[in-house]
Amino acid sequence: MNLSYISVKCEAEKPFKLLHITDTHISFADGRDDERKNKLAEGRYRAFSGSDRRAERYFEESLSYAAKQGIKIIHTGDLIDFVSYANLDYARDMLKDTDYLIASGNHEFSLYVGEAFEDEAYREQSRELVQSAFRNDIDFTAEVINGVNLILIGDFYYRFPKRITERLCAELNRGLPALLFMHTPLYEEGLYDYIMQGGAPCAYVTGAPEDKIACYPRNRYIQQKPDIDTLECIELIKSHSNIKAIFAGHLHKPYAGVLDCGIPQYVTGIQTNGYALEITVK
Ligand SMILES: [Fe+2]
Repeated sequence: MNLSYISVKCEAEKPFKLLHITDTHISFADGRDDERKNKLAEGRYRAFSGSDRRAERYFEESLSYAAKQGIKIIHTGDLIDFVSYANLDYARDMLKDTDYLIASGNHEFSLYVGEAFEDEAYREQSRELVQSAFRNDIDFTAEVINGVNLILIGDFYYRFPKRITERLCAELNRGLPALLFMHTPLYEEGLYDYIMQGGAPCAYVTGAPEDKIACYPRNRYIQQKPDIDTLECIELIKSHSNIKAIFAGHLHKPYAGVLDCGIPQYVTGIQTNGYALEITVK
């Protein structure tokens, strides 16, 4: 495991720890799925796990580390690479004795990976089946530990639907110090530059301004252009001083930065390279 450590000041009643992991990309399929899915699984397994079982090995290592330390796992999505019975069974089995919370990533609802424009209607095709593998609501979950509100928001393809903003607003209005966990990071200039300078065609962040996305390929521009509801949600996040930090994944590379409103944002790298972040909440 490639473990990093950070500490966040939250005025917790008592300090506690969390283990943040993300983007495990488990890629199994079996006879219950069709041939196309089994073919997809072969290629994706080679890419993410390979002969040394990287994805499963690091995931299982992080679960046993957290269990030994008695700390809660927070997973910010893409635990599975695509929807399959074998992937969901694996997730359910591995997590059955684990103290965890998870927010969905975009891959949780991916039927064949990249075969369709992914939006809420696409997600709806597998939402119930995927949700059945997890104990908490993978769209939106809030849990208070030692006076700190842990708020997890599922992935909505670079958008925040109004219903999520309403739930977030209700949680933030409780007035507790809060930590936000979500799959896709929010736009921040340094993060945008870091991803774009790495040669990516777009920054894969939520809420990038028009002048920053104008250069994206057309399909990525359409995918990542924030709508009014999304901008409203981002305004809400930025206006709440009780949000002490944001944790995300999706980019597969680790990064730490600060939003223009002053909230620190930590991106944890892909689990198949062993990345994990131990957070001490003080
Ligand atoms: Fe991912």
